[in-house]
Amino acid sequence: MTYIKPIYKPKNPNFSSGPTSKRPNWSLEKLEKAVLGRSHRAAECKDRLNEVIKKSKEILGLPKDYVLGIMPGSDTGALEASLWCLLGERGVDVLAWDNFGKDWVTDVVDQLKIQDLNVYEAEYGELPDLTKVDFTKDVIFTWNGTTAGVKVPNGNWIPSDREGLTICDATSAIFAMPIDYDKCDVLTWSWQKVLGGEAAHGMLALSPRAVQRLESHQPSWPIPKAFRIADKKKFNASIFEGNTINTPSMLCVEDAIDALLWVESLGGLDILFKRSSLSLEYITNWIERTSWVEFISHKKETRSNTGITFKIIEDWFTKIDVSQQREVMKKITSLLSKENVANDINGYPKAPPSFRVWGGGTVESSDVSSLLPWIEWAYQEVKLQYNK
Ligand SMILES: Cc1ncc(COP(=O)(O)O)c(C=O)c1O
Repeated sequence: MTYIKPIYKPKNPNFSSGPTSKRPNWSLEKLEKAVLGRSHRAAECKDRLNEVIKKSKEILGLPKDYVLGIMPGSDTGALEASLWCLLGERGVDVLAWDNFGKDWVTDVVDQLKIQDLNVYEAEYGELPDLTKVDFTKDVIFTWNGTTAGVKVPNGNWIPSDREGLTICDATSAIFAMPIDYDKCDVLTWSWQKVLGGEAAHGMLALSPRAVQRLESHQPSWPIPKAFRIADKKKFNASIFEGNTINTPSMLCVEDAIDALLWVESLGGLDILFKRSSLSLEYITNWIERTSWVEFISHKKETRSNTGITFKIIEDWFTKIDVSQQREVMKKITSLLSKENVANDINGYPKAPPSFRVWGGGTVESSDVSSLLPWIEWAYQEVKLQYNK
């Protein structure tokens, strides 16, 4: 059977999981208002930094008593600052089911050397057993495992009257799916994820209980300056009022504001969620009628609508070794890139050989829909090379 090359291409071929596609109709001219060549401590710059904080809080509907600040080092910087400054007061349970969650395990085990520790890890496609988590301890988890395409279904497994803090890496979830904020004492994300902003800047939200910990606990390890949200039990509140620990890019700040204004112009958070869900729905419908492909996550309720991951299940593919499978994936995804149909949809290098299509709200669902016949075509082209 020969497959005819599809005619219609996605208007925008960018489906990367980070940095993700810029919002529709984005252009550099939109950043003309950026306050460049000025000190970031100047009132005009501080206003712009505060605008990111204020608009993010409003659009997300973060609890009024949570503080939100801009951090260096993207989501990694924000998350690691929270680990270095908050942990050590009590034991820790850490959950991981994708590559980044596993990085946080390394921090806690090898870097901070927490002794009273449980690590709950799961294979790609699965969640660890959430009923085992001990909330008298501090708990670290990722709301949506970007590289696995697996998310927690909700926050019901987290008790409201927990004793420890919950530290949540929300970078590929926030602005894309509902999050029970009050179940997370720490939330972190980066600009380069769901809103298609620029890299290197992160956001850190803290509950009153997290702030209280900063004011009552002095970690036994040194805290690098870039992570120092508190010093000798003194919470640095000014970071959460538009001051930054070090120098931010005001061009990136303007871009973050542009993305937030775009969300407002769409009608808010729910519309972003809907755009993302529709992309997942298109892929789900296609997978249901396509025999050679399956989601990495078998469970619908834990399937991500941002990093949407799926794999080839036909015998000729599953029987070859993993390095050959990666070669096949590279051929298919390179073909799609060469056709200017899809960039960056090969799965994460450490994940099982798979596709990963970003479905966050900056991606047009119609583009996801146009992409699917192309994936079918490229798959059949490459399969022919291996099955002559
Ligand atoms: C779940 C998760 N955590 C952390 C990171 C690291 O983010 P950044 O490079 O913005 O620090 C990523 C990046 O893809 C991610 O998906």
